[in-house]
Parts: sequence; structure tokens; C-alpha cells
Amino acid sequence: MDLKVNGQVVALPEIASDPAMPLLWALRDGLQLTGTKFGCGVGACGACTVHLDGQPVRSCVTPLGACAGKPVTTIEGLAPAGSPHALQLAWLAEQVPQCGYCQSGMLMAAAALLARNRRPTDADIDAAMTNLCRCGTYPRVRAAIKQAAQ
Ligand code: FES
Repeated sequence: MDLKVNGQVVALPEIASDPAMPLLWALRDGLQLTGTKFGCGVGACGACTVHLDGQPVRSCVTPLGACAGKPVTTIEGLAPAGSPHALQLAWLAEQVPQCGYCQSGMLMAAAALLARNRRPTDADIDAAMTNLCRCGTYPRVRAAIKQAAQ
């Protein structure tokens, strides 16, 4: 099975081609794109968030079969030109991460938000950012999104 990931069509290895396999495992185990993290495995935490056809999805509950012909973007493809995405710069400026485990999913959710809403309010951010962070970085996530939106 072929998958379009981060702008390139790639052939998935046999072990990662079952249409029922969660996209998360095809990315991590099939393509070694390990920036996308496994947290809960049931669509609750958001650590595995990637973009599918421009929309944020939880890749642990997205079957490969639902991805055919649709572009997938992972954290590795967020800044394809080589310079950091505005959100990544804001994340650094606001020193958002603590342990960092959930942050790639946070960034992908935030990037999807800014792609559809360049001036999100606090309520917009709260509604879009349902990802969980055990370190409690939520205030800094909100500040970084606002900074990147300027
Ligand atoms: Fe997918 Fe938690 S690992 S939502």
C-alpha cells in the first residue's frame, strides 16, 4: 500500500499495510516516523495527532484504509522548507514543553487550528486543543498559539 506522507508517496512495508492497522503504527513502525507518539491508544489523549487531508486526526484510531489517496502530515513534515514553523518558534520562546512527550501532538493540533483560524480567541483555542498534558503546560500552549498567530 502507498501512502502520501509529508509530501512524498511512500510504499509501506508488508507488515504495515493492513488496512485495519492504525495509521500511528504504520508511521512509527513502518516508516520510522517516531515523532508521532503513542499515549492512550483509544483516541483520548491526542499524543498521536497528525493531519489527514489537512484535518487533525488521532492516528491511533485512524485505520490505514481511511488514508488512501489523502495526504498525511506528521510533525516531521510540519516545516518542510527546513525553517521552523511559526508555532515551533513560539513554542521555544514560551518554553512550552516540560517532559515533551505530548508536544508533537500539541503542535499538530495547534497548526490545524491556525490553518483554519488565524486569530483564535481563548475559547477557540480551548475548543480546539483537547490534547492532554500530564505536565500541565496548557497556559504556555495557549500563549504560544497566540504568539504564533500575531
Ligand atoms: Fe492516540 Fe492517545 S495515543 S489519542
